[in-house]
Amino acid sequence: MATTAPTGSPLSQPSLTHPPPQRKLTTVKALSESPGLSSIPSIYTFPKQTYHEPVSDTKETIPTIDFCLLTSSHPDQRSKTIRELGIACRDWGFFMVTNHGVPERMMKAIIEVCREFFELPEEEKRGIGGKHVLHPIRFGTSFNESVDEILCWRDYVKIFQHPEFHSPNKPPSFREIALEYSKRVRLVAREIIRGISESLGLEKDYIDETLNLENGLQLIVANLYPPCPQPELAMGLPPHSDHGLLTLLIQNQIGGLQVQHKGKWVNIDPIPNSFLANIGDHIEILSNGKYKSVLHRAVVNNRDVRISIAVPHGPALDAVVSPASKLVENVGNPPAYGAMKYKEYLELQQGTMLNGKSCLERIRNGV
Ligand code: OGA
Ligand code: NI
Repeated sequence: MATTAPTGSPLSQPSLTHPPPQRKLTTVKALSESPGLSSIPSIYTFPKQTYHEPVSDTKETIPTIDFCLLTSSHPDQRSKTIRELGIACRDWGFFMVTNHGVPERMMKAIIEVCREFFELPEEEKRGIGGKHVLHPIRFGTSFNESVDEILCWRDYVKIFQHPEFHSPNKPPSFREIALEYSKRVRLVAREIIRGISESLGLEKDYIDETLNLENGLQLIVANLYPPCPQPELAMGLPPHSDHGLLTLLIQNQIGGLQVQHKGKWVNIDPIPNSFLANIGDHIEILSNGKYKSVLHRAVVNNRDVRISIAVPHGPALDAVVSPASKLVENVGNPPAYGAMKYKEYLELQQGTMLNGKSCLERIRNGV
């Protein structure tokens, strides 16, 4: 026979014996599919000024880096492309990468298998992975459910791919597709990082070796932005910079990414099958601020489901990142950022609401 605690005993008041349950939020997918949804809950409403920031009508084209030329055995072609890469990093922090050699079918496959993942029953997705930033698989909504004061119109799954490969068990084809995709993308990223190293006047392998990229952290971050009935009030992802060195992103043909350039937001409309690349906070630190990590955000729309797959590449988790000694001088150009382990930076960023470059600001030296 089941025993029940007598009324009034501490056992009948679970709040006294257990910590309060963690906030468990509905996913945006479930919310957007609720029948007759015509307005969004107020917790998804961003302050009006967010949307009143000007969107640029610039005809300036976003830089394009031809990967084939970057890896060319012609020294002239290579050095010209490295110069272009340096200018793209300095002026935009953001560029497209064409001729990268990753087959179109792999790019389509990873988007489709992530779509299938998000179609899994809610309870099943909720049971996957953990919550801590260093947990190899994390499923969730917004940015950090436990600290966000305003919620982002976005569900995500983040999966460590390297130095240890992880995969959810469902959909069954996820493992194979992710393994193949992340391997190919990692080769492209490491080559671009070699080019960035050279463009800074450092040895080609300086970043690779100093930050131990052989064991560098690589994640697949799949973002789902369901249609939103009031897209002008919500945000898929608010302005932020990425941690790590280089993120390579693709999307399902649906736009929404905006990049800040000369104080204005620029809509990004990528060349089909190219990668959208952006440099992260750790290139800014390593370059002592010569290259700045770029602020970007994702806006949402009321018609189409948008899926993006971002693949961030960072240092090894226990690598300590600081400005390259060759790029600092004690007089005139002192180190602008303190040294910090990459792992600790990740924990720092995850502990606060996503807010511009506030995390990087915390390790900037008062110079
Ligand atoms: C990210 C990101 C933008 C997008 O995942 O860090 O900036 O367009 N995504 O989904
Ligand atoms: Ni980002």
